[in-house]
Amino acid sequence: MRAEPRPLLELDGVQAYYGLAHVLQGVSLTVGPGELVALLGRNGAGKTTTVRSIMGLVSVRGGRIRCDGRDVVGLPAEQVARAGVGYVPEDRRMFPGLTVRENFRLAALGSRRPRPQQQAAVRRVLEVFPQLEPHLDRDASRLSGGQQQMVAVGRALICGQKLLLVDEITQGLAPNIAADLGRMLRRVADEGLGVLLVEQNSQMALELADRVFVLDQGVVVHSGDAAALRADPTWMAQHLQL
Ligand SMILES: Nc1ncnc2c1ncn2[C@@H]1O[C@H](COP(=O)(O)OP(=O)(O)OP(=O)(O)O)[C@@H](O)[C@H]1O
Ligand SMILES: [Mg+2]
Repeated sequence: MRAEPRPLLELDGVQAYYGLAHVLQGVSLTVGPGELVALLGRNGAGKTTTVRSIMGLVSVRGGRIRCDGRDVVGLPAEQVARAGVGYVPEDRRMFPGLTVRENFRLAALGSRRPRPQQQAAVRRVLEVFPQLEPHLDRDASRLSGGQQQMVAVGRALICGQKLLLVDEITQGLAPNIAADLGRMLRRVADEGLGVLLVEQNSQMALELADRVFVLDQGVVVHSGDAAALRADPTWMAQHLQL
């Protein structure tokens, strides 16, 4: 039997709080290399809290979080990033005044890789997101919402991150742009990265994902193989009408 590769992300019984509010009540999930895992659930279920817990932005007072084998509970966000985790939040935070090229150059410098590898990483991202090529010298904060999300994902890829945490980046985008972004994330996973995808469009997420976790009130209430769930209309009707 082939040994399973080590997960890039492992959450085991995570308990997270905002002040006294006990939001995550024992969340366990994994993302392996080459896997796109969807995290679904209705508003307030705890999806963003899960992602922020991984990044050290929420108080985790129980359970374990490992990124590429390293325990990250208690570490500040920049050290979690150094463990290979890229976080693409909903508000895409482009620095005004920086062009797309400058965004990528900064990410490349941050990767601390040799120059030729940095340049190869930028070329690679432009292969994945060819729509950005004509806009390289434009202020990134003035691009369309979808293009800004591509820049945000591109920056994480250029940084050399192995795991992407992507929180509702298709919100407010036209359906065809959202579908483009989804396909690109699938491609990134097919090339060996791990992707944890929080997505409001659960139909799209289920089509893209290898595995799915559904959260409700801070607890994983369902999980499974996306292919099996896609073939089960009862499950779809029961759990994805969120
Ligand atoms: N900064 C905060 N302080 C206190 N409570 C918070 C804070 N942020 C979120 N919560 C609460 O934590 C719970 C989980 O919220 P979270 O944002 O993780 O949900 P979500 O699944 O991402 O929802 P959505 O689909 O609306 O983005 C909710 O009850 C929410 O009200
Ligand atoms: Mg959220």
